[in-house]
Amino acid sequence: MKKIKKAVFPVAGMGTRFLPATKANPKEMLPVVDKPLIQYAAEEAVAAGVDTLIFVTGRNKRSIEDHFDTAYEMERELEIKGKHKMLEVLRGILPDHVNCVFIRQSEALGLGHAVLCAKPVVNNEPFAVILADDLIRAPENPCLSQMVDLFNYQHCSVLGTETVPKADVSSYGIVDGTEVKPGLMEVSGIVEKPAVKDAPSTSAVVGRYILTPRIFELLEATERGAGNEIQLTDAIAELLTEERVLAYNFDGVRYDCGSKLGYLKAQVEFAMVHDELGADFRHYLTQLGIDTKDNVVKIAKR
Ligand code: UTP
Repeated sequence: MKKIKKAVFPVAGMGTRFLPATKANPKEMLPVVDKPLIQYAAEEAVAAGVDTLIFVTGRNKRSIEDHFDTAYEMERELEIKGKHKMLEVLRGILPDHVNCVFIRQSEALGLGHAVLCAKPVVNNEPFAVILADDLIRAPENPCLSQMVDLFNYQHCSVLGTETVPKADVSSYGIVDGTEVKPGLMEVSGIVEKPAVKDAPSTSAVVGRYILTPRIFELLEATERGAGNEIQLTDAIAELLTEERVLAYNFDGVRYDCGSKLGYLKAQVEFAMVHDELGADFRHYLTQLGIDTKDNVVKIAKR
């Protein structure tokens, strides 16, 4: 089995839950402290050994291309002004060996369709999918690295999962299966956004996937499902009738940055442990009467 070298970033969604902020700007460019969500996602992929980043973009996605492009004029300005630290930040967005490919999803027909758009670049290789609005904090070992390690050992598709409250199951793809060991499940079924009473478990697929290329053929045959969209979940349901698929409860904390509350939680918690800003921000929270001591330890550890 080939190594995971390519990651697909579907960034063509409408981001309706974040309107009006997402009217002219993609939600993946929303910053958490000082970096846009898409940069956290790209860094996670690169840390896992990926060298080709494939962005499936829609309208209003120019800023993502610009973000990963070289900004010659800005670099020159910073050089002239002697702002070397900022220059380093700008030049360090991606390492030199990493390539970016941009593919246009002409219509937002769903996540499954967005992934299918990447087929001509991925070809016949296993690959990763990262949804940048699921920001995952796992400083010791980033989420995708954990999943790639598992893939290298098990040689099959791996879904990143998290246990969610029962009341929330209808917001996710929910998996069914047999526990192989704590935190690892052999998937026997998957259903997109089930009603609470129909959900087979509370194990929800969040925005991390490693998939074998067979998924592309299955996506080509997938009809519109929940929300009248071509669902990746439906193609995975087919995949697991042919191949082994694992669900992996990763170590780390996920922030649902596609929702306003999840995004705010990410801002606060990332700011509290930020290298440069953390101390000042915690001081500010203390002034507001919020005791940050215990929380910082908790956030830093998890
Ligand atoms: P979401 O379900 O979060 O949809 O998509 P959305 O449109 O981005 O946001 P809301 O619900 O309207 O607020 C999950 C992921 O799939 C991508 C999105 O960009 C997001 O990363 N996506 C979704 C596409 O790339 N294309 C699509 O047609 C749909």
